[in-house]
Amino acid sequence: MTEQHETARRRYLMCPPTFFTVSYEINPWMDRRRPVDTALAVAQWERLRDLYRDLGHTVETIDPVPGLPDMVYAANGATVQDGVACSSVFTYPERAAEAPAYLKWLADHGYAPHAATATNEGEGDILRAGDVLLAGHGFRTSLAAHDEVARLWGRRVVSLRLVDPRFYHLDTALTVLRGSDGRHPADVAYYPPAFDDASRETLEHLFPEALLAQDADAEVLGLNAVSDDRHVVHAPAATHLAGALRERGYEPVAVDTSELLRGGGGAKCCTLELRA
Ligand code: ARG
Repeated sequence: MTEQHETARRRYLMCPPTFFTVSYEINPWMDRRRPVDTALAVAQWERLRDLYRDLGHTVETIDPVPGLPDMVYAANGATVQDGVACSSVFTYPERAAEAPAYLKWLADHGYAPHAATATNEGEGDILRAGDVLLAGHGFRTSLAAHDEVARLWGRRVVSLRLVDPRFYHLDTALTVLRGSDGRHPADVAYYPPAFDDASRETLEHLFPEALLAQDADAEVLGLNAVSDDRHVVHAPAATHLAGALRERGYEPVAVDTSELLRGGGGAKCCTLELRA
């Protein structure tokens, strides 16, 4: 595949990191002892937002809430497809209050709200890939949530078990390169060691042509990338991934989100896709 892929316009929801800090530790990337430069996080976040707009996408923003430092990771706020917003139910109490804030914003903006009952962390673990939903479990989102979203959207859900605590959400181990809005058949990149044997087999079967990421890409959270089917916005340190993307006909766009990595997130974590 060397021809250029076509871009599809996306609508994203983001939350400025006004109150971002690391005051608790719920993943191995977080270290309370290292001070966070919130102003730098805000500047990096603004560049990411502006980049999406320059690429032709619509970016909506939700007001950050004091005392919710991880609210910047909008991907965890909900899952939105077919005009329906499914609320998140966070694993850790520190993040619980983010869910109603996101659901209210989405309801106020015309999405039919579904108050979920099963533990799930939104698009961190539930990714649309063409016709199916890929759903992670093992660290955060429960298998019960996979059933709940399958019923809610009447779509096939492919459950994938994550086994490495550094890659605690599906979006840290797998990128949907094409088809995240469901309009095209999916193409994905993933890091095989992040999954158990059965899930690796499932992925090989579903995506025999997938791009397999290397340790060096995964270790800088390079797979926490956002694709509009053509441009793939990713961490600058993921240089092998960038080369492999170019060979497949994508346009890698490096954006520094290093300060946001202090909380364990990159570009994708900061971006919730709003599917009409
Ligand atoms: N500190 C946050 C947590 O551990 C980071 C979330 C990153 N988001 C993501 N979509 N992977 O919950």
